[in-house]
Amino acid sequence: MITNVFPTPKEAARALIERVLNLLKERDDNYYHIALSGGSTPALMFDLWASEYTELTPWEKLRFYWVDERCVEPNDAESNYGMAYQHLLSKVPVKTSHIYRIKGEENPEEECKRYAEIVLNKLPIEEGLPVFDLVLLGAGDDGHTSSIFPGQGELLTTDKVYEVSIQPHTSQKRIALTGRPIMNAKHVIFFVTGEKKKKVVLAIKGVDNNGPAAYIAHHANNAVEVFTDNAAADE
Ligand code: 6PG
Repeated sequence: MITNVFPTPKEAARALIERVLNLLKERDDNYYHIALSGGSTPALMFDLWASEYTELTPWEKLRFYWVDERCVEPNDAESNYGMAYQHLLSKVPVKTSHIYRIKGEENPEEECKRYAEIVLNKLPIEEGLPVFDLVLLGAGDDGHTSSIFPGQGELLTTDKVYEVSIQPHTSQKRIALTGRPIMNAKHVIFFVTGEKKKKVVLAIKGVDNNGPAAYIAHHANNAVEVFTDNAAADE
């Protein structure tokens, strides 16, 4: 696992964008399937991507999916799609037909099925699992990633591609990409910054195996990289 540490979140975000652009350059095919996480951390990356790298990005190659979504309307402040749209997708020349939104406003169980079918239909399949080119993950200070929270280990091993999960503190329903398709991605990149994330960054780096983020980092089939800052990396 490669851990990239930068003095500030903005420098980590910039390095991550440049890493994504390099991965895109390595792909000759005219598509690249990327799954985005939500939360607050990616907003910095999305803003920078839109403001400084629009001209450098082969937008026509990118197909956007989501790692997870809160079961809310897309214009809700909690929506991961809404955050990505506000900070990135509304500002760059991506075709709407290349953006595959999880419909958080629909019945969660039905939406898991619908969205999993889209992913299975659009992506290459290996051993029954979709192969994302890149899964961009965040991590919570409790060790969660995607919307797979501590104690929800069955979401790490289930055969289902997307499952309904529950945020344990708010009981908010979520739609989550499960562990196996995440670990099956060609590249998994964790973007985790800030003092509060010290413990989960240590776990991801292998100090322990505590929590879903660490489990995925340690059991992924292919490349795992971490982009973090001094505050989270205890540097
Ligand atoms: C979500 C995310 C989740 C996120 C972590 C970190 O829907 O909340 O996908 O996995 O990456 O909770 O969130 P912050 O970036 O807000 O700390």
